[in-house]
Amino acid sequence: MIAGLERERSLLEAEYDANRRRTRLIFEMVAPEAYYDRPIPLRHPFVFYDGHIPGFSFLTLVRRALGGDPIDPLLEKLFERGIDPGSLTEAQRSAPQAWPSRETVEAFSDACDARVREALRTGCLDDSSNPRLVRGQSAYTIVEHEQMHQETLLYIVHRLSRDRKRPLPSEYWDGERPHYRRVEVAAGAATLGARRDAIAFGWDNEFDETIVAVDAFEIEADNVTNGDYLAFVDAGGEPAPFWRRDGDEWKLATLFDEIPLPASWPVYVTYRQATEYARWKGMRLPSEAQYHRAAFGMPEGAERSFPWGEDAPQPKHGNFGFVRFDPVPIGSYPSGASAWGVNDLVGNGWEWTSTPFAPLPGFAPMASYPQYSADFFDGEHFVMKGASPVTHARLVRRSFRNWFRDDYPYAYGTFRCVA
Ligand code: AVJ
Ligand code: FE
Repeated sequence: MIAGLERERSLLEAEYDANRRRTRLIFEMVAPEAYYDRPIPLRHPFVFYDGHIPGFSFLTLVRRALGGDPIDPLLEKLFERGIDPGSLTEAQRSAPQAWPSRETVEAFSDACDARVREALRTGCLDDSSNPRLVRGQSAYTIVEHEQMHQETLLYIVHRLSRDRKRPLPSEYWDGERPHYRRVEVAAGAATLGARRDAIAFGWDNEFDETIVAVDAFEIEADNVTNGDYLAFVDAGGEPAPFWRRDGDEWKLATLFDEIPLPASWPVYVTYRQATEYARWKGMRLPSEAQYHRAAFGMPEGAERSFPWGEDAPQPKHGNFGFVRFDPVPIGSYPSGASAWGVNDLVGNGWEWTSTPFAPLPGFAPMASYPQYSADFFDGEHFVMKGASPVTHARLVRRSFRNWFRDDYPYAYGTFRCVA
């Protein structure tokens, strides 16, 4: 924790509370009778996340970092972990026969919250002699872990049939596609990752700082839209996962509704579909380093913290931070454009890169969550950069890396091509 522990402590407490409120709001989108539903067979039912989020916070900060007493060892174990298994059999193997009642889960969750809040208020959060507490690691880990799960939860709610959710009124608008543009990005250095002392907190896969030389390349100024991708589907390409054919029209599933396909929105696709589209166009996906050059590089040579400069992320910079749940037309945020005039590099959908998820030189598993990344360095996951509409603004930083399998159809991932 770099800037004054006491000030940071109250910010963390406030952020923990804000997280709990948003998570509750997301659970209110799920009809009570759908609490045990599992709309994505590869992930757990909603009940799991209700226990997992506060359970993980309690386990990580109170039990493991501070050595606190247990609340309920069986429930702590049950809700410890559950992410992205590789296959259905693996998923089923980790599925308990019967989940506890909602009442039981909520009592456990409240007990975890109370103990976590107490720790945030009075516990020792920053201790350089405890690896889990170096620079406040466990406190930041639990805050960002919940924020990531809010996105995960929303894309699971997305897959619930409409009669099993409690939709919120939402507005959608299509627009004119800005004229197609490619931008030349000059050769130069891309700084991946970060120095451990340069940012207040980062996940283990964000370290160490790694400088890579990148040749000049051309990149599309905007994301590939539904309209662009439709031409590929008409030529025999695979339809995008959120699309549904209705007679001779295409519909798009938003979080709560189904609407006529908005041609000007970024298309959400899998890595494989993005790769196939790029091949069809005679182009490629950008590598992680090329994304960095396009987003953070500058013609003068130096690099920025964000595509738009040094200002902290704000709603005017892009479609992220839960302002909306769904995309908007591409190019809607001129104040978020990069130095080269590339739009929407942060927000309106994560950006697929061609780079397999792998450790940066100097990687070490983090003490507060050693399996966070290490379990996924298998050549089967690919790096995504940027943010979606439902990515928390705290996760918007240059070094943050997201990842999914090449055929994972649930995430809010879009792309653009390079030549
Ligand atoms: C980083 C989004 C791929 O949801 O699988 C949550 C985040 N890890 N709990 C996931 C995560 C453990 C992870 N992603
Ligand atoms: Fe988790």
